[in-house]
Amino acid sequence: MIREAIEMIFTPATSVAKKYGFVYHSISLKHRFERCKKIWLPHLKNCQDTFLQVVKDLPQKKSVVVLGSAHLHEIPLHLLVDNFESITLVDVIHPLKHHWAAKRNSRLKLVTQDLGGSLHELENLKSLEDLNQLIQNLSAKQLFHFEADLIVSGNLLSQLALLPMEALEKYMKKDLTLAEKDQICTAFGEIHLKNLRQCSGQKLIYTDREVTYRNPQGEKIYQGSYPVSFDGFTKLREWDWILAPLKEASKDYSIEMKVEAYSSK
Ligand SMILES: C[S@@+](CC[C@H](N)C(=O)[O-])C[C@H]1O[C@@H](n2cnc3c(N)ncnc32)[C@H](O)[C@@H]1O
Repeated sequence: MIREAIEMIFTPATSVAKKYGFVYHSISLKHRFERCKKIWLPHLKNCQDTFLQVVKDLPQKKSVVVLGSAHLHEIPLHLLVDNFESITLVDVIHPLKHHWAAKRNSRLKLVTQDLGGSLHELENLKSLEDLNQLIQNLSAKQLFHFEADLIVSGNLLSQLALLPMEALEKYMKKDLTLAEKDQICTAFGEIHLKNLRQCSGQKLIYTDREVTYRNPQGEKIYQGSYPVSFDGFTKLREWDWILAPLKEASKDYSIEMKVEAYSSK
């Protein structure tokens, strides 16, 4: 607890990142990784093997950009440093250790950016119409543009709709329906992919595509996914990831993800 409190105080964060709990989530993710890394090993190996498979065929390996870099649990910093001259990590929040690493190594650059474009608008969301209007506005904008030999979107796609949905539910004091949630997740996913397609360089995207909750007897109690078109990308592989075994997130259920990886030129 003391360690976590110190990390909370010293992790550099914008006011938006603090306000919407990114610091807390970043530190929780790190501690979940510590608790679950043994069970996450097949997932981590799949991420790293997919990355190396794509890197092997790159015509040039000067620069890499990682969107949603977080703690780089999935593609560790040493793999990036071994394969590229210049490394750019992009997230709303970067852990303290990456700030230190960037100070010591001029090949590493941190970009602090809202890649979903919604964070400054969350307070204005008072109805589903507001959220649909925001989605329409975001669809017409370029939210990010990067140029690199490889641009990785690392388990970010499914995250982008979460805060806008949460903010709206909190304001309306009621849950969105599953159909509404699917439509919003699809829209944020499509916007991310559109911006990614417009970046220059080869892309690698991996993301959770389906979630399954199981009760202590191992029976499915919920399964959900939302449609997104990966047009222009080639599917490389898919795998299962036990994100939270029983008793990690709850004593009543475990959480599993189906992860898919895609690449494009
Ligand atoms: C599941 S984690 C990614 C894990 C990471 N690829 C790794 O190797 O550990 C998702 C990351 O997306 C970031 N994120 C969520 N919403 C974001 C946004 N709107 N803009 C930029 N980053 C965002 C979170 O801060 C978090 O670090």
